[in-house]
Amino acid sequence: QLSKEIDKICQSFELDSNRLQQLVDLFIKSAEHGLNQKSSSKSYLPMIPTFVTSIPNGKEKGLLLAADLGGTNFRVCSVKLNGDHTFDLKQSKNPIPVDLMKSTTDELFSYLASKIGTFVKQHHGENFNSDNNDKSNHLKLGFTFSFPVDQTSLNSGTLIRWTKGFNIPDTVGKDVVKVLQYHLDEQKIPVHVAALANDTVGTLLARSYTGENKEGLTSIGCIFGTGTNGAYNEKLENIKKLPTEIYNDLKSKDIDHMVINTEWGSFDNDLELLPVTKYDEEVDKLSVNPGYHMFEKRVSGMFLGEILRNVLVDLHSQGLIFDQYSKTSDLPHRLRTPWLLSSEGMSLFEIDDSTKLIATELELKNMLRLPTTYEERLVIQKLTRSISKRASHLASIPITALIMKIDAFKGHNVEVDVGVDGSVVEFYPGFRTMMRDAIAESQVGSKGERRLHINISKDGSSVGAALCALSSDI
Ligand code: BG6
Ligand code: GLC
Repeated sequence: QLSKEIDKICQSFELDSNRLQQLVDLFIKSAEHGLNQKSSSKSYLPMIPTFVTSIPNGKEKGLLLAADLGGTNFRVCSVKLNGDHTFDLKQSKNPIPVDLMKSTTDELFSYLASKIGTFVKQHHGENFNSDNNDKSNHLKLGFTFSFPVDQTSLNSGTLIRWTKGFNIPDTVGKDVVKVLQYHLDEQKIPVHVAALANDTVGTLLARSYTGENKEGLTSIGCIFGTGTNGAYNEKLENIKKLPTEIYNDLKSKDIDHMVINTEWGSFDNDLELLPVTKYDEEVDKLSVNPGYHMFEKRVSGMFLGEILRNVLVDLHSQGLIFDQYSKTSDLPHRLRTPWLLSSEGMSLFEIDDSTKLIATELELKNMLRLPTTYEERLVIQKLTRSISKRASHLASIPITALIMKIDAFKGHNVEVDVGVDGSVVEFYPGFRTMMRDAIAESQVGSKGERRLHINISKDGSSVGAALCALSSDI
């Protein structure tokens, strides 16, 4: 009975190439809607104009700071752009205290400001000796803030909603640049927040700076980490929702493209075509943003482990596994606690080939205090592989769709460059390969897939934010 049930569950995670193609078409439609409509709706992609209108060429020079909130860590860096496609980077990484993710705006941002202060003191102490009120001494900072923001200029934007487990209601609607600047000034830290960038935008710009995307190539910057999202360069005339005065002003300066932050985590929130299992429904209910970011909840690192945890608890409630525990309330409390089964753990189950899956046994004991039999571990491995296969195949959709939308392969011998970052794409075994397999099966085809470069853009979002700060004239 167990193996029948497992087969049924694994089947419910399967996606055929027909469905993937339909999802690609829906993505293109939803992106076009998002570019046209001024008012936002959860039914189509946000497609946020970023006010980034020039792509770096590698000759940019300067010393800038970058602060990066939205992934696993809060990072503060100083980036020295050398003007020859290279950069030097100093950085400090701080895991974000979990209670701050659900605190108040002031608590969170005063913590961020203090970490920036500590970094500047340690690495650029000379700036502290100067008159902190003299703004000309202030270091410029690019703020990578990786949440949906309604961006109103290169250096201002209000938070639309939190994602990825953050839940601080009083930040919604506030200009996050102003809030960060306020706390820096309060703490007399000589830093000026000059630009706001999403991590995907940073990743996209960094690839152009480092020249890895050969001149003239189309680029997409994307993240598959705690969350997932992507940015690309769009023709101004296709961004129908841009206010006429902004459009005309840019055109008068001969600007014809702007980078768009798609916020593709929010793709198909209406669940028109995305697969839905009862486990996905459970995960959504427990999240900070039920009904939103439905694509992200099937693809990114924060959610994969939680899907698996829900399956395991369900199998136990049907009396099919962990039979030493009679009721759900008897299960080890860590297995009963949402979010404690990590996708990092899954990445180990995925490729465990040790005798009797002993490595998985140890990891489950460690992570969840859960003793298992060999049969149970085989089940866990099979489920893990179905969940990650579905995630990586879904991950192919936005990349395929954007390539189709911008007709990236037009002309002979054109190659397309995709800069990626994030723990899932960097560390989850086979994720990139499975994603590529699905792209080869898609409308892009195997010929297109061979002309597609998908490479990690290490430290990309910080370098990109620094580039934004450099180009900002405030
Ligand atoms: C980091 C980038 O390397 O990757 C961040 O600096 C980005 O900007 C992050 O948000 C995404 O990965 P994860 O796994 O930390 O969410
Ligand atoms: C979430 C955020 C988005 C970010 C992505 C990757 O989807 O909403 O802004 O880019 O995570 O970090």
